[in-house]
Amino acid sequence: MYKYVIHGGKPLFGEIEISGAKNAAVAILPAALLVDGVCRIENIPQISDVTLSLEILRELGAGVRSINKNTVEIDCRHIRNFCVPDDPCRKMRASYYLIGALLGRFGRAQVSMPGGCNLGVRPIDLHIKGFEALGANVDVLGGFVYANAQENGLSGATVYMDQVSVGATMNVMMAAVLAKGLTVIENAAKEPHVVDLANFLNSMGADIMGAGTDVIKIRGVEKLHGGTYSIIPDQIEAGTYMACVAAAGGNVLIKNVIPKHLDCITAKLVEMGVEIQEDGDDIRVIRKHGLKRTNIKTMPYPGFPTDMQPQMTACLCLAQGTSMVNEGIWENRYRYVEEFKRMGAKIQVDGKIAVVEGVDHLTGAPLQACDLRAGAAMVVAGLAAVGTTEIGSIHYIERGYDDLTGKLQGVGADIRIVDVPDDDLRTESHAG
Ligand code: EPZ
Repeated sequence: MYKYVIHGGKPLFGEIEISGAKNAAVAILPAALLVDGVCRIENIPQISDVTLSLEILRELGAGVRSINKNTVEIDCRHIRNFCVPDDPCRKMRASYYLIGALLGRFGRAQVSMPGGCNLGVRPIDLHIKGFEALGANVDVLGGFVYANAQENGLSGATVYMDQVSVGATMNVMMAAVLAKGLTVIENAAKEPHVVDLANFLNSMGADIMGAGTDVIKIRGVEKLHGGTYSIIPDQIEAGTYMACVAAAGGNVLIKNVIPKHLDCITAKLVEMGVEIQEDGDDIRVIRKHGLKRTNIKTMPYPGFPTDMQPQMTACLCLAQGTSMVNEGIWENRYRYVEEFKRMGAKIQVDGKIAVVEGVDHLTGAPLQACDLRAGAAMVVAGLAAVGTTEIGSIHYIERGYDDLTGKLQGVGADIRIVDVPDDDLRTESHAG
């Protein structure tokens, strides 16, 4: 077991290169199941959710060949297995994409109910509604999802999403690419990774129009062919490093980003007094003076992303005045607040609202990451805090951040990964 140890209070200077997007990669890798050929996928982040996705593909019988640390070739021509075992699915929410991909390719899928970060109730009713509209029978029994359309195959249909859902939009898109006729997804999610999945599938021969708007039209094709595709840069990874600079101060060039995807984060940081300069695929983040208060409400894209809410709250803890945060997507995304209070933060949570009263400084403390973005927010807070912050349960953070410590060390942060001896772990669990 490992923890991060951060000696905070040092401004950050230098450059950080952003990796490929986690939430695009965890959809595009299973989408390779739909392809009757070899897919070469580039700009894959080195994170544990990707390792798990590749393991599942191998278990299903795919040929997976690493070309270099960020490029992989996947050959799903000879797969005959549509049952995904329980264990890997429990570790990763995105395992739900295997249902759409296997159903689309084989007309059949048996996938364990997905796990992932505990952000509150995480139903998949909209995914199931979409598969059923395309003609599949779907049952949830004994912790598994069974989807079957083998008798008549899948046929295009209009699917109205009662709520904007990233996962359901992408899953129905996967099921529909090889279905007969036209599928229309209404009230679709518009996140950058929705567009990236559509671009990947189109580059392999699919016919998808409208991704990035709230109506996506998918005309089924006979089959998909192999090809090469490069995953977009990670919006949330970039946003997290922007928050690190905002909290700790300094001047950092964040390289390999799509600035348009960062508009909502940039706008909020500028309101808080942070200087942001766009330059092609790079943005420079400069924080010289104290932070100003602001309010944040998380919403589907192009609104402010829920996956940046904890990191921005870390910054607001240090802003002058009182800020309001309104979590509009998940019901349980403030579990990190009790940890922040150990650092001297003043936050009151009432349902979806957090009232954050800025303090002069945070003080380093021992913390436990409780989910991916909460853990990232603890890093943001730890970099700004006076003294030493230790963050346990870093496996949550490593699900989604490629070389977080190396990248931060590169801009002068004092952050290390430290092995926690078993004896210390026993003491910690007795204390709990
Ligand atoms: C994706 O989760 C992301 N995960 C999450 O990122 C992100 O927080 C979320 O989208 C919102 O942007 C992946 O891409 C793997 P949703 P997803 O379906 O697809 C409700 C991170 O930190 N809903 O858009 O599971 C749901 O309860 C992670 O990287 C239904 O009611 O989210 C929520 O309130 C965590 N029924 C809302 O919709 C459904 O069938 C949005 O969820 C599906 C969702």
